[in-house]
Amino acid sequence: MSRLRFLDIPARLESDPGGRGRAVGTLVLIHGFPLSGHIWEPQFVLSENGWRVIVPHLRGFDEGAAGRSATSMDDYAGDIIDLLDSLHIEQAVIGGLSMGGYVTFALLRNAPAYFQGLLLADTRPQADSPEGRQGRERMIATVRDKGPSAVADDMLPKLLGDSTRREHPGLVEEVRAIIMSNGAETIAGALTAMMNRPDSTPTLRQIRVPTLVVCGEEDAITPPAEAEALQAGIAGSALEMIPKAGHLSNLEAPDAFNRVLEAFLRRVG
Ligand code: MLT
Repeated sequence: MSRLRFLDIPARLESDPGGRGRAVGTLVLIHGFPLSGHIWEPQFVLSENGWRVIVPHLRGFDEGAAGRSATSMDDYAGDIIDLLDSLHIEQAVIGGLSMGGYVTFALLRNAPAYFQGLLLADTRPQADSPEGRQGRERMIATVRDKGPSAVADDMLPKLLGDSTRREHPGLVEEVRAIIMSNGAETIAGALTAMMNRPDSTPTLRQIRVPTLVVCGEEDAITPPAEAEALQAGIAGSALEMIPKAGHLSNLEAPDAFNRVLEAFLRRVG
């Protein structure tokens, strides 16, 4: 039995608006750092095209101060495999944003047979640089010392693009609230998992399923040039840039994000 908490949005079909229509397929969306599955709420509407949408909260996230912690991407990937097995889901379109992409790479290594299609949003395959690892160590000390609000102060200006911060200040506060729903040890565990993650560049050559790479044009953490390099490394993949969006492209420009994801799902389903 899986212990992972998750959001489960049943498939709906236009011809059967009130009912639980037969699913065209399952879409699994994995959140980034230091967030929770709630960042994917603007994508729940994709259930209206017949897709069941499953959104895990990675181990400990959205559980407050008492939340558990993981220490590797394989921990997170293992939890998701257990969840899919407990739901009897043999195949799905699986995607992740940023750290969710790192988890997705671990899933691709450990359980490629579960993938019907792949979405990689605002993420990168490379491991942390030595400087990056030092930055993670500093943030682990900060979160243990000052709590999640210090991480929110550090991350918010980088997570959200200039357009969002200028035109949608309410969204900045929504993302802060999501960060604050996580405990210090859950955040420290995710930082440990990120700083120890392996280089996933060799994994790219093994990808055999339809793949969509998405990136916010104003993404300051994984900028568009990195998305172009990622797409170039995956045979047959497509790249879509999202205007007026930063690192949280699905949340900052949900209509544009959903349009490209919907078109991709039509191709895969
Ligand atoms: C994320 O959005 O998940 C993180 O910014 C990724 C990272 O720090 O490498």
